Amino acid sequence: MNETRRAVLDALADGPVAGPVLAETLGISRTAVWKHVEALRDAGFDVDSEPDGYALAGVPDYGAEAVEFGLDAPFDVEYHDALPSTNDRARELAADGASDVVVLADRQTGGRGRRGREWSSPSGGVWMSLVLRPELPPARVPLVTLAAAVAVTDAAREAGVDAAIKWPNDCVVPREGTERGGDKLAGVLTEMEGEASRVSWVVVGVGVNVDVNPGELVGDATSVRAEGGDADRRAFVQRALERFDALRADPDAVLDAWRERAATLGERVRVETADGDVVGDAVDVTEHGALVVDTGDARRVVHAGDCQHLRPVDGA
Ligand code: BTN
Repeated sequence: MNETRRAVLDALADGPVAGPVLAETLGISRTAVWKHVEALRDAGFDVDSEPDGYALAGVPDYGAEAVEFGLDAPFDVEYHDALPSTNDRARELAADGASDVVVLADRQTGGRGRRGREWSSPSGGVWMSLVLRPELPPARVPLVTLAAAVAVTDAAREAGVDAAIKWPNDCVVPREGTERGGDKLAGVLTEMEGEASRVSWVVVGVGVNVDVNPGELVGDATSVRAEGGDADRRAFVQRALERFDALRADPDAVLDAWRERAATLGERVRVETADGDVVGDAVDVTEHGALVVDTGDARRVVHAGDCQHLRPVDGA
């Protein structure tokens, strides 16, 4: 949304405001005011024309303008009804020099998960990718992914869901005795480009089953709606972006925030890695996002793999 349209929208929200007054305040013509009002109506905003002027009477459920309106974080939003993958679109924008842009789609036709897996993305989910240019050395970029997992977990908790983080960066609803440590609510897929000493861009793809029809959930996935939470996608995205924006401003706080929300730490785990299984007690996570597993013989630092929760560590 351009600055003028945002200013018109803010004025309508504080309205009623007469067209001529708005035109003078913003230094634009009355025709321009009218065009902005019509464009906002086309975007789904309900704008009343009252004797005293225009007033905002309703905000659309979802979309770029809906998310930007009332968002307390400096992101521009690009919305699509359908995309193959928001990460792919975000990568294009990153290559063109974009920064702090969020790509949202109502559904994805080729959603991608970690480790080359498909990611089911029906209508009703939050499928979003953030284009970022963090001032971090490449070795610290995993903190961005950890921050995204914390932000999504906090947004889910605000929506009333008892969410936690399962290593590496899944957001789950913990269930006693389940191998995966719980039912999966969200996942994060981070992609980046840079050199050894400098990050060019980072795309953080976040997939959250917010308002997904329970009949369309795959495997052991769950959704905010299935958990009885508030499945308002606009509010969810806003809370997640605001939380993420606060965390990225304080990278040193991210690791502790992740640990506080972790379902995996304190669990006995099996991690399937490319070099074989690592079984032991999950005792910590490093700032590179690696899981520290105490196997009894040694502490192994595991950078990638699929993690199963076996049973709680005695006394944990
Ligand atoms: C995982 O495997 O847990 C990560 C899933 C990440 C899915 C999101 S949905 C938005 C973005 N676009 C994609 O194609 N993938 C990510």
